[in-house]
Amino acid sequence: MAVLVGSLRRGSINRKFAESIGKLAADRLRFHFIEIGDLPLYNDDLWENPPESVLRLKREIAAADGVVFVTPEYNRSFSAAIKNAIDWGSRPWGQNSWEAKPAAIMGASPGVIGAAVAQNQLKSVLTVCAMVLMGQPEIYFSYKPELFDEANNVRSEDVKKFLNGWVDRFSAWIERTVETCTPRWHRSYSDHDPQKCCVLALIGTILMTALLVWAFVSNLLNLLRGFVPAVTLFSSLIYAFGALSVMVFFFVFHRAQ
Ligand SMILES: Cc1cc2nc3c(=O)[nH]c(=O)nc-3n(C[C@H](O)[C@H](O)[C@H](O)COP(=O)(O)O)c2cc1C
Repeated sequence: MAVLVGSLRRGSINRKFAESIGKLAADRLRFHFIEIGDLPLYNDDLWENPPESVLRLKREIAAADGVVFVTPEYNRSFSAAIKNAIDWGSRPWGQNSWEAKPAAIMGASPGVIGAAVAQNQLKSVLTVCAMVLMGQPEIYFSYKPELFDEANNVRSEDVKKFLNGWVDRFSAWIERTVETCTPRWHRSYSDHDPQKCCVLALIGTILMTALLVWAFVSNLLNLLRGFVPAVTLFSSLIYAFGALSVMVFFFVFHRAQ
């Protein structure tokens, strides 16, 4: 699981909380914490020469089976650090890293509402990004330091039981969702071999072009012999051009990936 923690500060309770769950879940899920503190503020111009931190984020999301967002609540919303990471991941247009990724949201606060408002707002943004969200169970965690030890192990048996229940439900849901919700083209995107794609697209383009040229030339010969009216030749030319454009589009598209 790719884990994004929305707080950047060293003593973050959300970070500690996420690490505690990662430890509890180690026999069922592997938590990989994604660095989002070094992402620049979103700026479309930077795509001309994308920063390594942005490319790394997109690579790590692509490699994950799912994403866990752990957000603090800042002024009744989720943190700007998370929003910035979401925006980077959603672009360039047509290469939305979040699309069809299973995801869960959780959050902690020292008060009683457990980042509930922040989580609710985050839900709507992730839905727009076409993520597949787990609805239940939810975690609105009221963080008390005495519930955890120095190494972020959960001390309280009640909390342990509650969090273990969440991990069980989440891992079972991930297993179901990863296979059914990730479209085939998306899976092949994450583990495709770009060179192979290019070669296949090129072979397809050459074959199609050869076929269409052959159709055009044979129509032309027939026309010269007086067998085919000019309108047939014209329409075959239009078809040939259309099909060729589609082939070239696919070739360029695969190259871009
Ligand atoms: C800018 C700012 C705004 C905050 N707004 C809220 C809020 O709306 N609701 C809330 O429950 N806590 C709020 N808090 C308190 C945070 O929940 C608390 O600082 C928490 O420890 C932040 O998470 P972290 O420890 O993971 O950084 C706010 C804190 C900051 C710094």
